[in-house]
Amino acid sequence: MTFISQVRLDERHDTRRYPFTLPAVRHLLAHPLELTSPVTFLTGDNGAGKSTLVEAIAVAAGFNAEGGTQSFRFATKATESSLGDHLTLRWGVRKPRTGFFLRAESFYNVITEIDRIGGGIHASYGGRSLHERSHGESFIDLMTHRFGPKGLYVLDEPEAALSVKGCLTVLRRMHELVEAGSQFLVATHSPILLAAPGATILEITDTIDEVSYDTAEPVALTRNFLGEPGRFLRHLLE
Ligand SMILES: Nc1ncnc2c1ncn2[C@@H]1O[C@H](COP(=O)(O)OP(=O)(O)OP(=O)(O)O)[C@@H](O)[C@H]1O
Ligand SMILES: [Mg+2]
Repeated sequence: MTFISQVRLDERHDTRRYPFTLPAVRHLLAHPLELTSPVTFLTGDNGAGKSTLVEAIAVAAGFNAEGGTQSFRFATKATESSLGDHLTLRWGVRKPRTGFFLRAESFYNVITEIDRIGGGIHASYGGRSLHERSHGESFIDLMTHRFGPKGLYVLDEPEAALSVKGCLTVLRRMHELVEAGSQFLVATHSPILLAAPGATILEITDTIDEVSYDTAEPVALTRNFLGEPGRFLRHLLE
């Protein structure tokens, strides 16, 4: 059972401007997102609308638009769309005990906010300022130390900072947290993260469709490339 099992978009909005012009958002209007697996991935090409959707769902769930926990309220730049205000989330009876919204793009600002709050908060993040950790280390510290059981985690491209080994570490940690009753919603391009056991993969094109691991584009294309890089490159570059 998931904390959030469905995301609906209401009809009272101005359809002539971003984000309501995005095909994925139009699709959502007629087709609510069903989040029935403990891990749901949103994948799709650059510009497909993953961040727009993930951020709106995070905002509707009560997270700060720039990321952090549900108690973070800082803003360095208001870039979020108003989509979150138009979403209705269906919550289960079980409420998350904790949660985090991780945006690779603005995690730096979240770290600055953690440092500003100070007062022992670093203990929850591995014992020191995440500014003193590398980009990837700070993500892994966050997931290892701050994430816990029965949490709701919304992640936007966690792989942005991670090596292949780092992705495998995160995959294992996600699995552990799912076993402990957590829910993940993750926008990703990573063929490694997409392999999370029991996950639902939603691919955004002009529509939002459930796909299998093998047919998800990051997997199929990477596999194709790695199968014969030389041949792939000849086609690409000719
Ligand atoms: N504030 C904004 N105003 C207008 N258009 C925007 C705004 N933010 C994003 N867009 C446009 O909306 C589309 C979807 O953007 P979004 O960031 O959701 O894509 P994405 O799927 O997360 O892409 P990526 O894989 O590159 O992160 C893009 O074409 C983008 O240019
Ligand atoms: Mg994005």
